[in-house]
Amino acid sequence: MADPQKKKSWWKMCLLLLVVFAAVGGAIGWYKFFREEPQPEWVTATPDMRFKYGSIGAEHDAGIPYWIFFVLPRMFPEKLPGPGGYASLGVGWEQGQELPIGFTKKVIGFPRVANNCASCHTASYRKSADENPVFVPTGPNHTLNLQAFFRFVVDCAKDPRFNADEIMSEIALVYELPFLDRLIYRYVLIPITKKRLLEREAQFKWVYHKDFPLWGRGRDDAMNLTKYFLLNWPMDDTIGPTDMPSVWNLKKYRPEKGMLMNLAGDSHDARSVIIDSALGLLSAAPHDPEDFMRQIDWLVQYLSEIQAPKYPFPIKQDQAKSGKEIFDNHCATCHASERTGTRVPVEEVGTDRERLKSWSKQAAIESNKVVRNFGIERRGLVEIEPSGYIAAFLDGIWLRAPYLHNGSVPTLRDLLNPVAERPKVFYRGYDVFDSVNVGFVTQGPEARRVGTKYDVSERASGNQGHEYGVNLSAAEKEALIEYLKTL
Ligand code: HEC
Ligand code: HEC
Repeated sequence: MADPQKKKSWWKMCLLLLVVFAAVGGAIGWYKFFREEPQPEWVTATPDMRFKYGSIGAEHDAGIPYWIFFVLPRMFPEKLPGPGGYASLGVGWEQGQELPIGFTKKVIGFPRVANNCASCHTASYRKSADENPVFVPTGPNHTLNLQAFFRFVVDCAKDPRFNADEIMSEIALVYELPFLDRLIYRYVLIPITKKRLLEREAQFKWVYHKDFPLWGRGRDDAMNLTKYFLLNWPMDDTIGPTDMPSVWNLKKYRPEKGMLMNLAGDSHDARSVIIDSALGLLSAAPHDPEDFMRQIDWLVQYLSEIQAPKYPFPIKQDQAKSGKEIFDNHCATCHASERTGTRVPVEEVGTDRERLKSWSKQAAIESNKVVRNFGIERRGLVEIEPSGYIAAFLDGIWLRAPYLHNGSVPTLRDLLNPVAERPKVFYRGYDVFDSVNVGFVTQGPEARRVGTKYDVSERASGNQGHEYGVNLSAAEKEALIEYLKTL
């Protein structure tokens, strides 16, 4: 017969071991899945670097494991719009950087990649075809093919080759993961990532809609994104892709004077837009609400103060001077007055209406509720039906081509021409600057090779309306354009 005393201590031993295993397992589990490491110092060394590469917390719920992100373009090049990996999506990529601008890398257990504001809000231009691009944080990204990016990740996840065996052998070609990490990738990260990406397919249904024209480079159907991702609404028949706007100098918007934000005045103030945009990137309630609000405060401050860049070519100052008079007579009533930053009825400005239909009072009411339920206080979205477009502030207008909310007019010179004389087909997303017409080069073999075709007869792409200044003489237009370069 066994000694009952001995038996008892044997059980005790087992229990103790179990507790130790659970604790060690838990610690490893915590370390491998949840341990948060700060980003390296260079990321936050300057405000511009932080804007371009700093995490806003999106890695928690929207992050993709780094090595999966790394091998996808190698495994599925045919699902990208062209050769060159992620670069073919028109992301801004600085020399020597591991990831494109607007892509953040952070270790939460394992290195994850997510996005920040800079993916859509950093402009690039080249003064000539043989120069390197200049990147301007807070300028509009006119080269990014966002729709192709959305499709790419979902298409990869749907492919049967998105499985542990194939992804692991692709990773092994470039990096030898430690043993435990191999297990984690194989049995946890790859299956979960696949599942998560496939779950998004329903929300992304409208980016595959057969009857909707492609957005093309530099455009985003932002209000629909909000409806389908924040509100989980079923797909409707609207489409309203717009240009990415510039987000510099936000302190010019004065909510107390009735100014509104977003292209159709959908939001009350900069803080609200910034909160909503950040929630969009997180695609979930903030993991750490206090840290989230710190990020928001930083963004509000940074975007309020940063100024538009100066025009990088010479300006004829005399001409610009007479151009200012023309501007004061023909443009200032909307672009430098109490009307600036407020809605101009669409009947008056006459531009394309599809963007207005993509949003509604009901969507605003429900979005405000969702954000309130996250415990976030903000003035929020304007709870009325969209009815017109904001008379834009024109600071840094030289770098905001193509023009109008939907990017339907390639250059400032084109905008000063009657609708019938504006280009009907052109190519968007090529970054060489056209200093004669003020905008980007949108015709010719290179623009055609790099860019996406923009056809003004397609839905949501009309170039009608805003026929101001079209009857000015050629000399007056020249002077006005010279003045616009100074803004
Ligand atoms: C996926 C692309 C994308 C990302 C990422 C993004 N934005 Fe935007 N943002 C847009 C688009 C497109 C609009 C215009 C929407 C409209 O009015 O139709 C916009 C509008 C804005 C505006 C209003 C500008 C104005 O003049 O009214 C601000 C401010 C802004 N974004 C800030 C941010 C911040 C801050 C972040 C990061 C937290 C962010 N955005 C992330 C695409 C993006
Ligand atoms: C009656 C008011 C009004 C007048 C007058 C007016 N604009 Fe505008 N402008 C607008 C509105 C509203 C928009 C936005 C329309 C849209 O995007 O659909 C706009 C947009 C623009 C844009 C495009 C901004 C961007 O980021 O794409 C430019 C450039 C511009 N206007 C220049 C001018 C110039 C130059 C004049 C004078 C010759 C002028 N406007 C006269 C109301 C006006």
